Amino acid sequence: MEERSGIAEVRAWVAARRARGGRVGFVPTMGYLHEGHLRLVDAARGTAGAVVMSIFVNPLQFGPSEDLARYPRDLPRDRALAAGRGVDLLFTPAVEAMYPPGSATRVEPGPLATRWEGAVRPGHFGGVLTVVLKLFGIVQPDVAIFGRKDFQQAALVRQMVRDFDLPVEVRVAPTVRESDGLALSSRNTYLSPAERAQGLGLSRALRTACEAWAAGERDAGRLARMMHEVVARHPGLEPDYIAVVSPDTLEPVTEAGPDTVALVAARAGRTRLLDNAILAEGL
Ligand code: PAJ
Repeated sequence: MEERSGIAEVRAWVAARRARGGRVGFVPTMGYLHEGHLRLVDAARGTAGAVVMSIFVNPLQFGPSEDLARYPRDLPRDRALAAGRGVDLLFTPAVEAMYPPGSATRVEPGPLATRWEGAVRPGHFGGVLTVVLKLFGIVQPDVAIFGRKDFQQAALVRQMVRDFDLPVEVRVAPTVRESDGLALSSRNTYLSPAERAQGLGLSRALRTACEAWAAGERDAGRLARMMHEVVARHPGLEPDYIAVVSPDTLEPVTEAGPDTVALVAARAGRTRLLDNAILAEGL
């Protein structure tokens, strides 16, 4: 694996690889890698001859009272994991390289960003889309892989690619979980053992909704209430939102179909946890 932290150096590496033929796959991350990130690498490997991963904790997507300063970082460990999984180029830019003095243009997301994470974290998705657009401009990948774990983020990236005619194919890979159901997240490292136990309320709520759907329940309001009840059985787990939505508009539906998505976000202590499931897929 090679590593570059300069923008021009990444462009040169990618241009040289592309000249040899084959597609370039790209996996953007904020590091502190786990199996969820590494499966995105596998997905990129499966469709592209060269795999580029970025590790950049993007200050623009953190609110003033959020966890930017304490966001977990371990670049030596990430290097070993990325190399072991077959990443060809690791891009590790400094904040000053991505946002030099005078950098001013920001992406304004559409209405998909107003609800759910966007409502709880004002400005978050504008920061995400700005850095993703920059990373696409730097790496110029043929295909980019995102995780379904961040369902709203993936939907917003797809929309930006459509709206800005970006020449990149966006693929979304399934959520990777611990054996007990907890979705992998770099932020899980914040959880105390008690908070981790509470955190199981998210995947349990989703499983309950998927099982009810499989048993014939189609009333989205009832499915949402069931999820609320499961979360309420986990003392200390404070829901931010629980919703049953259309995968395209992310608006709540009244009747749940096979592609309807259940969303849940909750706080365990100071840590926010997110999860979702496509009802017909189960967990
Ligand atoms: P980060 O949280 O590091 O996640 C990087 C990618 O890994 C995202 O596409 C995310 O959806 C995916 N991912 C995280 N946990 C996953 C899991 N358990 N299973 C499958 N995929 C998972 O998301 C970001 O970084 C940033 O917002 C970024 C897109 C890099 C822009 O800064």
